[in-house]
Amino acid sequence: MTDTEHPSRVGKAVVPAAGLGTRFLPATKATPKEMLPIVDKPAIQYVVEEAVDAGLDDVLMVTGRSKRSIEDHFDRAYELEEALRAKSDTQRLYSVRESSELAQVHYVRQGEPRGLGHAVLCASAHVGDEPFAVLLGDDLIGRNEALLRRMIQVRETYGGSVVALMEVEPDHVSLYGCAAIEPTDEDDVVTVTDLVEKPAVDQAPSRWAVIGRYICDPAVFDVLRETPPGRGGEIQLTDALLQLAQRKPADGGPVHGVLFRGQRYDTGNKIDYLRTVVEFACERQDLAAEFLPWLRDFVDRHPAAGDDA
Ligand code: G1P
Repeated sequence: MTDTEHPSRVGKAVVPAAGLGTRFLPATKATPKEMLPIVDKPAIQYVVEEAVDAGLDDVLMVTGRSKRSIEDHFDRAYELEEALRAKSDTQRLYSVRESSELAQVHYVRQGEPRGLGHAVLCASAHVGDEPFAVLLGDDLIGRNEALLRRMIQVRETYGGSVVALMEVEPDHVSLYGCAAIEPTDEDDVVTVTDLVEKPAVDQAPSRWAVIGRYICDPAVFDVLRETPPGRGGEIQLTDALLQLAQRKPADGGPVHGVLFRGQRYDTGNKIDYLRTVVEFACERQDLAAEFLPWLRDFVDRHPAAGDDA
């Protein structure tokens, strides 16, 4: 197939950011979990940077209550900028302005938290009749990975929708949407034949987990309007994509998967969040020289629980 067979370009990214963030209470009582810092940048900024790196500079945030700080973060902060300019602190001035100049950021409110599928449906008026990307903020993808760009390419070649798949340990499949897959002629591309949201380990169709990056055909909106609440009583994007996986191209199908073996950081729970912060700090030129020796020493002084010191 050639690009011209599926001409409509992916130009918009949708970032659901309406979750209650209960795993991080009380930090998330008045602050959205997307604004929790990974070192010194809120998690959601890495996500917007990834979208922009893949050529998507129209970003729609689907927000809920107490999300004002997200809007403020991607807006200008004139007083702060003025104060930094007066001190000739150009480096910090740049870091403050950077987030407001990254992308065209738009917002829509998800009135009630009815699940990821419902959050995506809230984007329908803004997205219109075009394929679009969905990026979940709990997953951060390494800056040197070209995952999203590859997914857009796969959409251009095959049409339909595309999910990112990563192989996980069997006891982790119940945390993810899980896919049954069949190979294509391309090593890193598969056809998705089944999708189950958070299956029990003995019911999982494979160990290939859907990580938080999607390219959706606009047909997903009509399917989501008809999708009943599924796992957890929520409208699941996974359930809508299963419908599309069973359709012909003329009806918005099929669904392909890009097999991803690169670097992904989970920030969705406390332990993985802590790992992510430490990993990012160790990769930072301005911090690693001081932080890494301290970390080594700290670990030496704190043998793991159960270890004989
Ligand atoms: C969501 C999706 C799930 C997907 C996961 C990736 O779940 O429903 O299919 O595998 O994101 O992070 P959540 O983690 O929001 O519960």
